[in-house]
Amino acid sequence: MQKEELNPIDLAQRFGEGQYYWINTFGCQMNEHDSEVIAAQVESLGYQPACALEEANLVIINTCAVRKKPEDKVSSMLGKLDLLKKEKDELIIAVGGCMTQQEDLALYIKKRFNQVDLVFGTHALPRLPDLLKQARRQKETIVDITEDYSGSEPLPIKRVTAYHAWLPIIYGCNNYCSYCVVPFVRGRERSRKFDDIIAEATGLAHQGYREITLLGQNVNSYGHDLPGKPDFASLLAKLNQVNGLARIRFMTAHPKDSTLDLIQTVARGEKICEHFHLPVQSGSNKILSKMNRRYNREQYLDLVHTIKDRIPEVSITSDIIVGFPGEEDDDFTATLELVKQARFDSIFAFIYSSRRGTRAEKLPDNTTYQEKEKRLQKLNKIQQQISLSENEKLVNKTMEVLVEGNSKSNPELQTGRLRNNKLVHFPGSDSLTGKLIAVQIKEARTWNLFGESEGEPF
Ligand code: 5AD
Ligand code: SF4
Repeated sequence: MQKEELNPIDLAQRFGEGQYYWINTFGCQMNEHDSEVIAAQVESLGYQPACALEEANLVIINTCAVRKKPEDKVSSMLGKLDLLKKEKDELIIAVGGCMTQQEDLALYIKKRFNQVDLVFGTHALPRLPDLLKQARRQKETIVDITEDYSGSEPLPIKRVTAYHAWLPIIYGCNNYCSYCVVPFVRGRERSRKFDDIIAEATGLAHQGYREITLLGQNVNSYGHDLPGKPDFASLLAKLNQVNGLARIRFMTAHPKDSTLDLIQTVARGEKICEHFHLPVQSGSNKILSKMNRRYNREQYLDLVHTIKDRIPEVSITSDIIVGFPGEEDDDFTATLELVKQARFDSIFAFIYSSRRGTRAEKLPDNTTYQEKEKRLQKLNKIQQQISLSENEKLVNKTMEVLVEGNSKSNPELQTGRLRNNKLVHFPGSDSLTGKLIAVQIKEARTWNLFGESEGEPF
C-alpha cells in the first residue's frame, strides 16, 4: 500500500514504513515459531526485513532461559547493541522470550542495559505492535511481563519457508522437572482446540506446505484440558487424513506419556514421520527420581525397544543432562550404559545449569565443572560412534528426501531431510527446494549423510 493512500490513523499504525527490522532467535523450535509471529507483527507496522543487524532500525531479541549459556549470549549481544544505539539514536531495541518472562531478569535487563526500549514476556506477543508504538514514544524502558493466558489462539505469522510449518498444539508445561525453568516461563498447559489445529493444517496444505511439525513442551499431554479430552494419538490420526500434506512431525514427546496407542498411530500413519525425540535426561534411577521425570531406566528402555520393534527404520533421538546435582560416577556410568543399549541416532547433551526458582537449585552439588566437562566429552564420544554406525546402516538405500535448499557448508550441494529427520547432502539444482525426491545414500558420517538424487520428484 502507498503511504498516500493511508488515512492518518493507518499512518500512525504503520510507523515502521521504510524502516528495517532484525530478529535474533535463541533456543527451541517454539521460539523459532514465536519469531515468525513477531516478524508478522512488525511487518504489520510497515517494517521490512533487514539484510544485516547494522542496517536495522528495530532489533528484537527472542531469548531462551533453559540454560545459562544462551542467557550469557543475550547479555553480550545487549552490550553490543547498547554501543550501536549510542551511534544510532533512533534504533529501537526490544527483548522478549523466556528470559524476560522472569521478573527479576526483566528488571535486571531494564537496569543494566538502559538502551533497551522494550522488555516483553512470552505472553505479550498479541500486544507487541502496541508495545512497540509506546516504546517509540517513551524514553523510559517499557516492561510487559503480565501472565495473560488469553492469547493462546494463533496470531498472524510470517513463515520462514514455504514448505515446512511449525504448528503449536499445546502451550506451557505442567511437569515441573526439578531442573527446568520452562513451567515458570511458559505457564500451565493450554491445548489448542482440536478442530482449529485440523483447520490450520488443512489451510497449510492448500497453500502448498508439505511438512508440518506439531510443537509442544510435551505433545503427548495434548487434550487433557479440553472438553471430551481428545488425545494426541487421535489428533495425529486425524491429521494423517489431511490431503496434500506429505509429512507430519512432532516434538517433544515425554517418555512417561508415550503410549502404545501413540506408537501404533505413528506406525500406521503413512504421513507421520518415523522419528521420536524422546529426552531421557539420565540413565540412573536415583537421578531420574531427583529430576522428577516419573519413569525409570527400565521403563525407558522398554519404550525404546517397543518403538524400534513396531516401527521399522525409526530414528530415536534424545536429550541428556550431565552433572545433575548428586550425580556420582556410578550414575554417570548408568547413563553411558543406557546410551549404549538405546542406540540413539543422535543426542543433545548438556552440562546441568542451575536455574533460579527450580527445585534442583537447592540440591547440594559436589562435582566440579571440570569433572562434568570430562563426563560430557566421554558421553559425546560414545554417542558419536553409535551415530556413525546407525547412519552407516542407511548406505545404498534409496530414501525420500524433502529438499531444504543449498547446503550451509557447501553451496554446491543441496540439503534435505529424510523422514527420520537425518540430513542428507547431494548434488542438485536450486529449483528442488521444497520438493520431495528420492536420494540414494552413498556415504555416512557422524552428523549427516551424502547421496545422489535419483531422478524425478515424487
Ligand atoms: N540444565 C541443563 N540442561 C537443561 N535442559 C533443560 N533444563 C536444563 C538445565 N537446567 C535440557 C533438557 C531438555 C532440553 C530442552 O534442555 O535436556 O530436554
Ligand atoms: Fe521442562 Fe520437563 Fe516440561 Fe520438558 S517436560 S519443558 S524438561 S519441565
